[in-house]
Amino acid sequence: WLRVGRLSDLRPGEPRRVSVVGDQRDAFTITRDEVLGSVWLNREGENVTAMSAVCPHLGCSIDLGPDRKSFACPCHASRFGLNGDAEAGPSPRGMDPLETRIVDGFVEIAFKRFRIGTTDREALS
Ligand code: FES
Repeated sequence: WLRVGRLSDLRPGEPRRVSVVGDQRDAFTITRDEVLGSVWLNREGENVTAMSAVCPHLGCSIDLGPDRKSFACPCHASRFGLNGDAEAGPSPRGMDPLETRIVDGFVEIAFKRFRIGTTDREALS
C-alpha cells in the first residue's frame, strides 16, 4: 500500500491526478522514493476510486478530457468515462482500476502496472 494524498484534498466529482512514489526493486537493488507512476483519484463521499493513468492501448498518459467529465488519451484519441469505461478510440479495455483504502485520513492505493494492448486485464508482477 502506498500513500498518495489526503482525503480532505479531494473534492467529490473532481478527479485529481497524483504521482505514486515508492520503492523500486529489481533482482539486486532497491531504490527508495522513486516516482513509480501516476493515478487518477475520484472521490465519492468518503470513498475514493483510483485508476491507472497509463492508457491500455499503447501506454500513453491519460488526461482529463476538455469537458472535465471524461478522460482522454492524446496519442490515438481513446476516450473513457469518469468511471474508466472505454467509450471511443482504439483502447482495447477501460482504464485499469486500483484498490484503495483510507487510513487516518490518507488515501492509499495498492499500486500495480498492467499489460498494455490486451483486452484482458493482466497485472504485471
Ligand atoms: Fe492511448 Fe493509443 S496510447 S489511445
